[in-house]
Amino acid sequence: MPTQYAYFEKQFMPLAEAKIGVMTHAFNYGTAVFEGIRGNWNADEGQLYLFRVREHFERFARSCRILKIDLPYTLDEYCDLTLKLAGMCGYEEDVYIRPLGYKAGQVVGVKLHGIQDDFLLFVTPFGPYLDVEEGARCGTVAWRRVDDTMIPARAKVTGSYVNSALAKTEAIENGYDEAIQLNGNGTVSEGSGENIFIIYRNQLITPSPSDNILVGITRETAMTLAHDELGIETIERSIARTELYVADECFMTGTAAHVTPVIEVDHRKVGDGKMGPITAKLQKLYFDAIQGRLPKYKHWCTPAYAKARVRE
Ligand SMILES: Cc1ncc(COP(=O)(O)O)c(C=O)c1O
Repeated sequence: MPTQYAYFEKQFMPLAEAKIGVMTHAFNYGTAVFEGIRGNWNADEGQLYLFRVREHFERFARSCRILKIDLPYTLDEYCDLTLKLAGMCGYEEDVYIRPLGYKAGQVVGVKLHGIQDDFLLFVTPFGPYLDVEEGARCGTVAWRRVDDTMIPARAKVTGSYVNSALAKTEAIENGYDEAIQLNGNGTVSEGSGENIFIIYRNQLITPSPSDNILVGITRETAMTLAHDELGIETIERSIARTELYVADECFMTGTAAHVTPVIEVDHRKVGDGKMGPITAKLQKLYFDAIQGRLPKYKHWCTPAYAKARVRE
């Protein structure tokens, strides 16, 4: 396995040497923001394509603004550091890249202001997260999604992932593959790490940002592909829980989960309990796009290696 490296305290180093102190503010209070970026290995081309890196750092910058995390990097610098790190690691498989902006000060005290901030980055191999072929059996859980008046879901704040972890574990312990969280109003918000879409009478519908979702980059990718390639417009509106039960198709989107069909919700089959035709078309387009196989969307994919790594 190639050496794992990190970018930590303004230098590249082996991942094993990147360690934070026990008093680090973010470790004690969850005061960090992060991203998850996929590198998708294209074996035919011997290339690792990083997907929509810039858009991830644009969202990262928005999350930093919300958490008053002040970092001295430009968008270009974030992208360059990411490319350099991916290049150093040299993986020939799918990877997950984790940028983290965090309250690095070694101080006790619940606040956001007046604390030193820092940035780190690591890469790790990362295969499938949910079953993209068979699909996921999902359950709505009792844990409601955090409201914008509590911890804003539009920011990818580490502390708010306690809410997602409670939801995921409740779902798994109840025998499901993934959780669906409702928001405070009782309408559908999202999965523990995915956005959700339904298809009803050929309409593609997804909760809007005001339903307390993380505004996903895969969500936006699916909406673009649906519009440009399938001629299907997405309606962003609140979705009632029972709309999931009567939908013709349902799927989740996320950097980790890709486009995963939802085949069951709360022990009720979605459609005929198999991946639906529109989901299948979108999923194929999506996988082709993220592996750099669609010239029209190649601008979403940044090659990590200057020279292709083709095996003999
Ligand atoms: C709570 C939550 N919702 C949605 C998503 C999907 O977002 P994206 O497609 O940008 O990965 C994620 C993953 O980052 C997430 O953690």
